[in-house]
Amino acid sequence: MTTREILVTCALPYANGPIHIGHIVEHVQGDVWVRAMRMAGHTVHFVCADDAHGTSIMLRAEREGITPQQLIDGVWRQHTADLRDFRVAYDHYSSTDSATNRELTYGIWRALEAGGHVESRPVKQLYDPVREMFLPDRFVKGECPVCHSKDQYGDACEVCGSTYTPMDLIEPYSVVSGARPVEKESLHFFVRLADFGELLKAWLEERRAAGGLQSEVVNKLQEWFDAGLRSWDVSRDAPYFGFEIPGQTGKYFYVWVDAPVGYLAAFKELCEGGSKAGLGAGDYARFIHADANGTELIHFIGKDIIYFHTLFWPAMLHGAGLRMPTAVNVHGFLTVDGAKMSKSRGTFINARTWLDHLDADYLRYYLASMLGPTLADIDLDLKAFEERVNSHLVGKWVNIASRCAGFVHRFFDGRLAATLPEAEHARYAAAAEKLSVCAALFEARDYAAAVRAIIEIADEANAYVADKAPWLLAKDEGKRDELHIVCTLALNYFRLLTIWLSPVVPGIASRAFDFLGSPVSRFEDALDPLLGARINAFTPLATRIEPKKIEAMIEASKDSLQPNAAPTASPAPAKPATQAKTAMNESATTATPATTATIAIDDFARLDLRIGKVLGCEHVEGSDKLLRFELDAGELGTRQIFSGIKAAYAEPGKLVGRHVVFIANLAPRKMRFGVSEGMILSAGSGGADLFLLDVDAGAQPGMPVK
Ligand code: MSP
Ligand code: ZN
Repeated sequence: MTTREILVTCALPYANGPIHIGHIVEHVQGDVWVRAMRMAGHTVHFVCADDAHGTSIMLRAEREGITPQQLIDGVWRQHTADLRDFRVAYDHYSSTDSATNRELTYGIWRALEAGGHVESRPVKQLYDPVREMFLPDRFVKGECPVCHSKDQYGDACEVCGSTYTPMDLIEPYSVVSGARPVEKESLHFFVRLADFGELLKAWLEERRAAGGLQSEVVNKLQEWFDAGLRSWDVSRDAPYFGFEIPGQTGKYFYVWVDAPVGYLAAFKELCEGGSKAGLGAGDYARFIHADANGTELIHFIGKDIIYFHTLFWPAMLHGAGLRMPTAVNVHGFLTVDGAKMSKSRGTFINARTWLDHLDADYLRYYLASMLGPTLADIDLDLKAFEERVNSHLVGKWVNIASRCAGFVHRFFDGRLAATLPEAEHARYAAAAEKLSVCAALFEARDYAAAVRAIIEIADEANAYVADKAPWLLAKDEGKRDELHIVCTLALNYFRLLTIWLSPVVPGIASRAFDFLGSPVSRFEDALDPLLGARINAFTPLATRIEPKKIEAMIEASKDSLQPNAAPTASPAPAKPATQAKTAMNESATTATPATTATIAIDDFARLDLRIGKVLGCEHVEGSDKLLRFELDAGELGTRQIFSGIKAAYAEPGKLVGRHVVFIANLAPRKMRFGVSEGMILSAGSGGADLFLLDVDAGAQPGMPVK
């Protein structure tokens, strides 16, 4: 195997709010990948930083009566503690507000200027005459010019969905001071993205062929190329918190200019800091050289910032004569219980709140079991989370060790057998061989498939233990040797699973290796069983999740419980998941109180409600609550849905032929009896007090309900 040398990054979290579990999706995806690649023998450097500039941060600091530096220092401490406690193992976590980053940003800028890729022209923008600042779109509010709803943001109406510019708003006001903004002209600087059109197309083609860009991303890029590459406005006027543009006064780089440069700055600091063995000051130059010298640069990002990473960033790098990214790996967004994270429901969960109630590895495991190589959103279904962790991690993995360790200590002085008979050896070898496929699955970011493969072997191991029943063998003094073999093989199954799970659940795995008496840092070590070794006393490695811990976490995340939360503790507003971000770090986190009692029309529009015609309905064996429905859903085909209304409908057969209303875009849910592909609506309080909704004659299966 050739050893690869790879620099890996995750998107730099904004320093204007805490890390939440949506961010954690990305850091876990990156961290699992880095750990797995290291265990496969590659050299991986893993860096990140806080994205510390922009209007929001400036204004927040002002409100808190501190300097922006003080604000970002405090947030940096929280962010690094949160990520450390989620066991995200960055080699270095920096801040974009650093001297290194300023120097690199200036270097890239000068090169872009020298290459003739910068132009300037006056731009008209809304200006707050009281606060004396230009207003980013999200800092202007007013009446929607289309539907006349009040208090809409300057870029789009949340009620009717229209998009416009802030100058189109009726009765606009500044979110900062409340004053009526005026139009004002100012000189802006632009990078001529079109200069890089051909280069970007070639990069796209090359990366696509090499597997460095997902097909969804390629399609998006193609659309953007077809629409034409417009020049990018990279300057902002004072007052602004950021780097001043060299040679100008009162002009600053837009936060998205120096943010990605922060990837390089963090790596440069790592190289020059001398804290990592085998990495020195010269390595930075080697990595960023235009020919890349066989090294790789791999970014992990969410789907809202593709534009910045696949157009602006490669263009900036190339324009400055530097290497371009090897891969941009894009993931989808996290939802909780099928909906966007919400403060009023308590599902906007900060990393720290999670850690206060539940083990980081439990979330890591669940996320890994859901993550694939696509841009699909992933749902944290809290019930499924509880069941999966309890069943897989505790029931299937840790239990193997807890069932066998005691016998090894009681009868064999804590030692594993020195050899395994041929049959047992072959059994182990076959399992180890089967799991070696996981290295490629991790590399391809198909963690869900890797986890499935691992759990299959866990099932095999548990079947073996159940079949051999060491607790019965232990009662028979004549069967000591057999007991020793069974426990040795079982504990080797346990070790094998631990090795392959270790990128995903490094905390539990490290305790497991302590118990086994020897850590493993290479996948290839899984091929040979551990024999003759002395193991340590078994202490519980992971305990079952108690549902009340989850409830307590949700309660602690509810808005209503934190009315006086410090502004730094309130997350940035949720971003539209499907749209490209445009106003990064220019969103007004400050002005609007959170509304908990009402929703916007587009919240409702997210629900795909449909008419279904009942094709079949029956009791579900083994369940005292559920009925299994087969629905004709028109253009959506047929759907199987489990509904907990058995107590209210004693004769399910009678429901055949009638119409129901169901949610068609609920994430499918795997239940013990099969997959439920939606949810049927009924009125009432539950139990026997439930009534299916009906629809007037004429409605057809598949019709949307609006
Ligand atoms: N500061 C920019 C990134 C600059 S990179 C040079 C930014 N910051 S962010 O804090 O808003 O988001 C950081 C990352 O977290 C992004 O990749 C974003 O997609 C991801 N996520 C934020 N919320 C998320 C979810 N709810 N789910 C999954 N990922 C999410 O953008
Ligand atoms: Zn409107």
